[in-house]
Amino acid sequence: MTSTTTNDTTAHSASALELDDIQAGVLMPRPNPYAGAFWGLRIDDPRAGRELLRRLIPLLEPVSSYDPDRPVSLGVALSYAGLERFGVPPASLATFPPEFQQGMAARAAQLGDVGENAPENWERPFGSSDLHVVVAALARDTALMESLVTLTSDAVRELPGVTPVWYLDVHVPPDGREQFGFKDSISQPTVEGTGILGSNPHEAPLKPGEFILGYLDETGKVAPVPQPEVLGRNGTYVAFRKLHQRVAAFRQYLHQAAANGAEQELLAAKMLGRWPSGAPLALAPDKDDQELGGDPSRNNAFLYGDDPRGLNCPLGAHARRMNARDSNINGVVRLHRMIRRGTNYGPSLPPGVLEDDGADRGLMFAFVGAHLDRQFEFVQHEWVNEGTFIGTDERDPLVAVNDEGRFTIPMRPIRRRLKELPSFVVNRGGEYCFAPGLRGLRWLADLDT
Ligand code: HEM
Repeated sequence: MTSTTTNDTTAHSASALELDDIQAGVLMPRPNPYAGAFWGLRIDDPRAGRELLRRLIPLLEPVSSYDPDRPVSLGVALSYAGLERFGVPPASLATFPPEFQQGMAARAAQLGDVGENAPENWERPFGSSDLHVVVAALARDTALMESLVTLTSDAVRELPGVTPVWYLDVHVPPDGREQFGFKDSISQPTVEGTGILGSNPHEAPLKPGEFILGYLDETGKVAPVPQPEVLGRNGTYVAFRKLHQRVAAFRQYLHQAAANGAEQELLAAKMLGRWPSGAPLALAPDKDDQELGGDPSRNNAFLYGDDPRGLNCPLGAHARRMNARDSNINGVVRLHRMIRRGTNYGPSLPPGVLEDDGADRGLMFAFVGAHLDRQFEFVQHEWVNEGTFIGTDERDPLVAVNDEGRFTIPMRPIRRRLKELPSFVVNRGGEYCFAPGLRGLRWLADLDT
């Protein structure tokens, strides 16, 4: 078994995207609002696992026949331990990249998962070897969730070798806001050859190999495709993380740092790079602009080049760090882009409440991309938990592990510096998964090892 060369630019590899094979959820934007659920399954018997896939495959849609009006949709991904359980031959397993083979817990040092974020503190099954298959299910509204649950329960019915080990309800509210109160899922990269309209007209579409295995990427090469080709091609990697959000602590921090409500909102927007409505500071530096925030043709149509010092949007703001666009940073932004499929979990904390009610709430974060190392791990290590790329020693003010963290807000006449930032987000666990194309899933279902 040979792995695809790293500079294989043959007509086959560089050919048009096979949209009839790529799982719809990988590339298609999510409906808004929606309700959904994640199921984590352990496979004790490979034959039962293959039967599970045979039942799930007819329920999956490829990008080419995605119907936005279809009430429910599913996506399937497997961890490395899952591929082993399915009986994928060792020679094939060895063609997956090392970070995927090791799994997320083993990558804790690179990811900054230390202290309370360390794998020994994760909720099970994360960090164990029990999470083999993840099924992500979406319904256009909560009323349809019941049919989704039935659909997925039917798939595991009378399969004693398949055990549900994790379940999480998720949802995106009608205003699209995550738990801290900001509109989310605005900015996504455009992928060349998909025909899916991008959100930022100033960003040239990215080569498909950045997100889908088997195609040219931004380096002009085709990254090694896990073998056999039928398994790897049209697949992608998904990094799941259950990110608990300390909403009360965030509000309390703003409360003590600001003199009034307007200043609290300004400081929060400076930390994120956008106002609650989604309006970017780059276009609305002084106050929120609901109309701009709600207009998808304008709310991501900007660059940072005319704001080199960060007077409008701080260089260290979460969104600017995660996609510095044309800012003058150390590194090449286009090599570290990602598709995000994050969804809220848990109840929201009612507006104005400053006391923690003890509820578990946060973001079920999902990275999608073809390069776990230079996309997800790089961003987590360099852009979330370091600041050298923008010439500071400050971390992401909102989502990094912070212990007495600092955040500088360039302002005239004098800059503002926030001090003693605690961690507002805690990683409760996660895993690296591989989402094969539909042919790859069929290959897995037909294995007879
Ligand atoms: C609980 C944790 C997090 C929250 C609440 C959060 C929230 C947000 C919000 C509200 C936005 C702006 C809306 C948008 O452009 O879609 C955003 C943008 C973004 N976030 Fe996060 N985020 C979190 C964690 C992360 C992590 C861990 C990563 C990467 C490892 C990440 C990567 C991004 C990226 C790439 C963008 C888009 C930036 C752009 O293109 O302008 N986020 N996030």
